[in-house]
Amino acid sequence: MNPREYKEELLKALYAPYKNCQECHLGFTGRKNVVFGEGNADAELLFIGEGPGRDEDEQGRPFVGRSGQLLNRVLAQVGIERSEVFITNIVKCRPPNNRAPSPQEAATCMGLFLYNQIKIIRPKIICPLGSIALNNLLGKPCSITKLRGTNLEWEGFTIIPTYHPAYILRNQSQALSWLEDFKTLKNALLSVQSR
Ligand code: URA
Repeated sequence: MNPREYKEELLKALYAPYKNCQECHLGFTGRKNVVFGEGNADAELLFIGEGPGRDEDEQGRPFVGRSGQLLNRVLAQVGIERSEVFITNIVKCRPPNNRAPSPQEAATCMGLFLYNQIKIIRPKIICPLGSIALNNLLGKPCSITKLRGTNLEWEGFTIIPTYHPAYILRNQSQALSWLEDFKTLKNALLSVQSR
């Protein structure tokens, strides 16, 4: 078994007991799927969004709706294959009406899934998409506007945050800055691959 297959098995084992998770309130709000995340289990780059929306809840896959299509486009623009990265969210169940997850929902879900996903995948770079992902990952309020596109350090991982695609859909004027951040991510990826 190669490292990728081994990590795939570990991720499967992590997900299996929680396919109908009811460890927090979001398990009781009519969600259809626990959206675990998808991609390369041995990825060097991990994207973290906020939480599944309607399309993601329906399909059980992260970033498949309008935000996901925009994410796919910017990845293609900078030459990052979606299949080479891993994509997940702070919370794995859709918050009703796409509200932000509560601190308690985020903490419960990250304790069950995200921290373990990070331990298994051990990505070189983590990209939180938007302030909710960034704040929850770092465990403190921070400004996505100030920190986007910069290199941060958290628990020994390189963190390069950027805006959430839904924000870019609403604020087209930031599309170029967003593209710049993805170029930064691509360069960071090339740099870890050349080590
Ligand atoms: N928005 C997110 O934060 N995550 C998804 O998976 C889809 C939309």
